[in-house]
Amino acid sequence: VLAARAAGHSIVTMEGMQQEAAQFGAFIADQGAEQCGFCNPGMIMNAIALLRENSEPTEAEIKEFLAGNLCRCSGYEGQLRGIQNFIAWKKAQAQA
Ligand code: FES
Repeated sequence: VLAARAAGHSIVTMEGMQQEAAQFGAFIADQGAEQCGFCNPGMIMNAIALLRENSEPTEAEIKEFLAGNLCRCSGYEGQLRGIQNFIAWKKAQAQA
């Protein structure tokens, strides 16, 4: 079913967005929002997809995007805070 739904569309993996993923991943790690890192690739892909669609998501919108990303280490609060801090940092960078 997934392959049929993807027909005619392009698929970008994390390797296709290395610079953006590395910047976001390093920021999240610096925020202490990861523990074992197992869930990071999915969380990074979800967060980048969200920010491409909506550069100023609400807390509820961030939680909705992260809902399918299972993390067995954290309570998701660190990831939520990290994404919110990343958005604020990007906004400050754009204004500088
Ligand atoms: S940090 Fe370990 S699964 Fe998310």
